[in-house]
Amino acid sequence: MAAPDTAPTPNAPPPLTTTPTPPTEVDATDPAPAPGARLDELLAGLPEPAKGCALDATRPSAETLALLARRRSTKVKDGMTGPAPEGAALAGLLRLAARVPDHRQVVPFRFVTIDGPARGRLGRVAADALAADGETSEAKLALERGRFERAPLVVAVVACPDVNHKTPEWEQMLSVGAVCQTLMIAAHAAGYGAQWLTEWVAYDDRVRAALGLAPGERVAGFIYLGQAVGEPAERARPDMAALVTACPV
Ligand SMILES: Cc1cc2nc3c(=O)[nH]c(=O)nc-3n(C[C@H](O)[C@H](O)[C@H](O)COP(=O)(O)O)c2cc1C
Repeated sequence: MAAPDTAPTPNAPPPLTTTPTPPTEVDATDPAPAPGARLDELLAGLPEPAKGCALDATRPSAETLALLARRRSTKVKDGMTGPAPEGAALAGLLRLAARVPDHRQVVPFRFVTIDGPARGRLGRVAADALAADGETSEAKLALERGRFERAPLVVAVVACPDVNHKTPEWEQMLSVGAVCQTLMIAAHAAGYGAQWLTEWVAYDDRVRAALGLAPGERVAGFIYLGQAVGEPAERARPDMAALVTACPV
C-alpha cells in the first residue's frame, strides 16, 4: 500500500488514503473489486518482515476500515464453493493469522488444514462416532459424513496452551481467538468467504483424536473457507450505547 500523498505533520496522523499500491503485480487499487475477485498472488507474495525491522504499522488504511465495517461471516449452510486458498496463498493467509498479540510469545496455537479427501475421512469419523453413540438415522449420518465437505477447505485452529507458563491460560486462549478472527478477516480481504464454527465435532474426543490433537489441546474453531454463494445480509448488531461506559472512578 502506498504512503499518503502528503507527508504527515508532527503530532497529526497522515490522511487516509484510498489508493493503496500493493507490493506485487496484483492490482488491488480498485476499492470495490468484482465479487469473487481474489488476491492470491498478493497473499503469496507478502513479505515477512525481518525481526527488528521498523514496521509501518500505523499507516492508515481506508480499505481496512471499510472491510471491517461490512465484515460478515459467510454462512456455511448456504453453501461454499471452490476455489479455496491453497499452496503459497494459504501459507500466506495462515502467516497473517498467526500475527496476533501473544503475551510473552507463547504461541499457544497451531493449524490443521482439512481439504480434499481428508474432509470426507474426517466426516466419516464424525458419522462413526455418532453411530457408536446410537444414532441410526441414515439421513443424520449422511449429514455427518459430509460435514467437512460443506466448503473446499476447513482450517482447524487448535489451542495448545502451556498451562505451566507464567502467562495465564486465559490470556493464551484470547490469543487463539484472535488467530481465528484474524484468519477470517484476512480471508475476506483476499476475497474468500469464511465462517468460524465449532459444532459438536470440536468437542468430541474421537474427532479430536482423528485430527491429531494431544491431551490438553482443543479446537478453538473450524474456519470454513471458500467462495461465498451470494452476499450475506446484515444481522442485528450490539447496541453500542449499552456496551460502552467510562471508567466510574
Ligand atoms: C467460537 C465460536 C464458535 C461458533 N460456533 C458456531 C456453531 O457451531 N454454529 C453456528 O451456527 N455458529 C457458530 N458461531 C457463530 C458464527 O461463526 C458467526 O458468528 C455467526 O454466523 C454470525 O457472525 P458474523 O457477525 O460474522 O456474520 C461461532 C462463533 C464463535 C466465535
